[in-house]
Amino acid sequence: MERLALVTGGTRGIGEAISLALKEAGRRVVANYVGSEERAKAFTERTGIPAYRWNVADHQACLDSVARIEAEHGPVEILVNNAGITRDATLLKMTYEMWKEVIDVNLGGCFNMAKAVFPGMRERQWGRIVNIGSINGQAGQIGQVNYAAAKSGIHGFTKALAQEGARFGVTVNAVAPGYIDTDMVAAVPPNVLEKIVAKIPMGRLGQAHEIARGVVFLAAEDAGFITGSTLSINGGQHMY
Ligand code: CAA
Repeated sequence: MERLALVTGGTRGIGEAISLALKEAGRRVVANYVGSEERAKAFTERTGIPAYRWNVADHQACLDSVARIEAEHGPVEILVNNAGITRDATLLKMTYEMWKEVIDVNLGGCFNMAKAVFPGMRERQWGRIVNIGSINGQAGQIGQVNYAAAKSGIHGFTKALAQEGARFGVTVNAVAPGYIDTDMVAAVPPNVLEKIVAKIPMGRLGQAHEIARGVVFLAAEDAGFITGSTLSINGGQHMY
């Protein structure tokens, strides 16, 4: 049977594009979401991809939900840690809650999900973990000390776990998107976004499917010698 992929935050934005692209590539896919149940239902009806609701910041919920998914669909062999949020404000205006929420979801979620799937991958001697980082974790960004720290953390997490997984056939890589045409980027004030787009050599926002392209590549059967790497997909905005 084709390998099972689990995409967190997999029913919207970049996550939806990743879920669809992995399915298109022949994988079986399940998606996680936390927001609107109605929206997730519509996603499942449209795509045939089952969606499960839990918060990736909740450690126990990750363990329990992965156990349930594995009981219903078999082992998770590909994990895409995509779930992420922003709570933008300059440091002076950022509250502790805004800091903590972003760290807990964006970075804590990667730890929680890896804890749930990594032991099985190691045992079966095959696994693919792809973490969605960000250009803003590589370069920093005004108004995002929380998000930049979490995403930068994801890049370190990726390199450390890659070293732990390598001898067990488990690869761990990151994709670092630039500014992509999603609801998250649409929330950036227009005058600010204009300045950002002006700095992108390609002269436009990226499309979600252009990120999914990189994830499918890193999750492929013949990507087994690629580990601990970061694939930047940002229209040339930051060359790392
Ligand atoms: N690039 C260039 N200039 C910026 C900037 C940026 N990213 N962010 C803010 N500025 C500028 C503003 O244009 C403004 O300039 P002027 O004084 O010349 O008008 C100045 O900094 C102050 O900004 P604001 O008036 O907006 O200040 P504020 O306190 O009202 O808001 C802010 C501050 C919350 C940081 C707001 O500017 C903002 O949301 N900025 C965008 C932050 C951002 O890029 N977030 C990315 C979200 S998408 C994402 O995170 C996905 C991903 O991985 C890439």
